Formats: sequence, C-alpha cells, structure tokens
Amino acid sequence: MKSRKTMLLIFLLMAFAYLAVGCGGSETPPPPTNTPEPTVAPTPTTPPQPAVEPTEAAMPTTPPQADANTGQQHGQEHGQGHGQGHGQGQQGNMGQGMGGPGEGMRERHQAPIPAEYQGLTNPVPADEASLARGEQIYAEQCATCHGDGGMGDGPAGEALDPAPAPIAHSSQMLSDSYLFWRINEGGAQFGTAMLPYKDTLSEQEIWDVINYIRALGAGDVQPRQNVGGQAMDPAAEAQKHAEMLATGVEQGIITQEEADIFTEVHDKLNQYKETHMDEIRSFMGNPEEMQQYMLDAMVKAGEITQEQADAFVDIHDRLVEAGIMQ
Ligand code: HEC
Repeated sequence: MKSRKTMLLIFLLMAFAYLAVGCGGSETPPPPTNTPEPTVAPTPTTPPQPAVEPTEAAMPTTPPQADANTGQQHGQEHGQGHGQGHGQGQQGNMGQGMGGPGEGMRERHQAPIPAEYQGLTNPVPADEASLARGEQIYAEQCATCHGDGGMGDGPAGEALDPAPAPIAHSSQMLSDSYLFWRINEGGAQFGTAMLPYKDTLSEQEIWDVINYIRALGAGDVQPRQNVGGQAMDPAAEAQKHAEMLATGVEQGIITQEEADIFTEVHDKLNQYKETHMDEIRSFMGNPEEMQQYMLDAMVKAGEITQEQADAFVDIHDRLVEAGIMQ
C-alpha cells in the first residue's frame, strides 16, 4: 500500500518536473518544426501548414560568412530538446534578442542585398484587392511562424532559434528590395528557418504579402484570429524599448544619459521614417545602410547633431553586443 503511494508520488513529482523544465511557459507543445541548424540542416524545415512544400530552394549553399555568429549562438542556445522554451518563451514577443543573440538579426540586416534584388520596388498598389490576397497568403503560409499579428509569435515559431522576426513591426523600416529578397530566398544563406517562397508564391503574391504585413504593422488591417499571437501595439513597443534601455543602464552597459540620447534620437528617427516612407521603401542598400543614411539626413537637416548620431550608433552596438537589443 505504502509503496504504491510512494511510487505514485514519485511519478507525479517527475511528471511535474518534466513539465516545468520541458514546457517552460508555453501552453502548446512545439510543433515538429526542426530547429534550424546553421551549417548542418539542409532539409527544408517542414512548416506545419504551408500547402506547397518548398524543396530544392532550401538547400543551403553553405554560407560563407554565417558561421561566425550562428556558430556561437548555436552552442549556447540550442541546448538539446528540453532546452527549448527557455530564453524564448518567457520574455515573450521580442523574438530574438532575448537569449542573447541580437547578433543574428544584425548580421542579416548588414548583409549586402544580392545584385538581382537591389533597387526592386513594389509594383503592386496596396489596394483592397492586394491586401485581401495578401491576407489569405499570410494566413496560409506565414502566420504559423510569424503569428496572426505578424509579431513573430506564431505557435510554430516557439521552438525556432532564431525566432521568427516581428515582421509587422520591422517591415515598417525595411525596403521593398530587402523584403522581397528575404521572402523569395528565405534564410538558407543565414542558416535560419525562414522558408524560401520563390517556388511557392508568384512575384505578385510576394508583393501582396509584403503589402499585407506592412498594413498589419501600420494598424491598417486587423489581424485574423487564427493561430494566435499579438497584434502590433506601438505603446507596447515603446514600453519594451524603455525596458531594454533600463536593463542596459542596470547592467552598466550604458549610462542613463546615453539612454536618454538614444530615446531622443530613436523617436526622431521614427518620425523621419513616417514622413519619408517612399524613400525607405525604395532604398537601395541594406537596412543597416538605410539607418545610417537616415541619421545623416537628420544631421544635415539640423534635427540632431553629428555627436548624437554617432552616440546613437555606438549605444546601439553596445546594446546589441550585450544581447539586450536586436
Ligand atoms: C517555418 C517558420 C517560418 C515561416 C512559415 C515563415 N517565416 Fe519568415 N522568418 C522565420 C524566421 C525564423 C525568421 C528570422 C530569421 C531570418 O530572418 O532569416 C524569419 C524572417 C522573416 C523576414 C525577415 C525580417 C527581418 O527583419 O529581417 C521576413 C520579411 C519574413 N520572415 C517574412 C515571411 C513571410 C511573408 C512568410 C510567409 C510567406 C514567412 N516569413 C514564413 C520563420 C518563418
């Protein structure tokens, strides 16, 4: 009698321990998406939903420069199996940046846009018809990883490292050519789970989905309630931003004064983006070059000083290096 009870108790304890460790915070068990293995995993990660499976396109052409960053992330973050849900689930929706590796996104934003994509601009107007097509494509192909609202928090994304990008947000400051390239080619070049869509979607469909994710981020359309995930919320973004800076100050990576400079320049940068949308969309360089271009333009216009611009870049670098910001 007694030993049966003890056994039961032990069993229950083990079950709890397993749950506590294995599922850290996520209610839905991660779907069978393979975690991307930078150099090893050529097989296209099978997305849970997408109707058509991308095939050859996903074969990684072992990336020449991907190793420096991803290799290091890899060791730290890929703990085996039960390690998932750690670093990612808990702090929620920032996508990358939480477990440490803002580096990854940085690397992708610094990579040169391949010549054949440079200067591409969206020929499809973001009218109702395009947004409706984009919504359909998004729901079928993207939401499972990127979430209904495009904030990188779809159920199939939970187990991925790096996590799906918060594209509703980031597409506000990415050029047409960058977005088209990344959706067309996917993440093979960088060893990420982002799928290539060049064999699955037509060019027009890719532009439709770009129109849609931008509309999601701008709040022009309401997300479908389908797989789950947050909607873009500017107030929540500002809050998260303030928290990151506070963490930076707490950890002694930046001073309070630097945090204030950063916030001021960042706000002005956001205003600049809003009033120069066309410039951003047709920008020829990569996202990193675009940011530098905008800072230069703001200095020229007398909106910020050269010192502020330099400080902004320097502070950003340090926060990214510390794994606080992406
Ligand atoms: C299997 C999961 C998965 C699916 C499905 C998926 N993505 Fe991604 N996506 C990712 C991951 C992971 C990243 C981050 C790594 C990267 O940038 O390569 C990403 C990154 C991106 C980026 C780059 C954002 C940036 O800031 O650099 C864009 C744009 C994007 N996805 C769009 C889409 C669109 C549009 C679809 C649907 C047509 C889609 N994704 C489907 C996982 C996915």
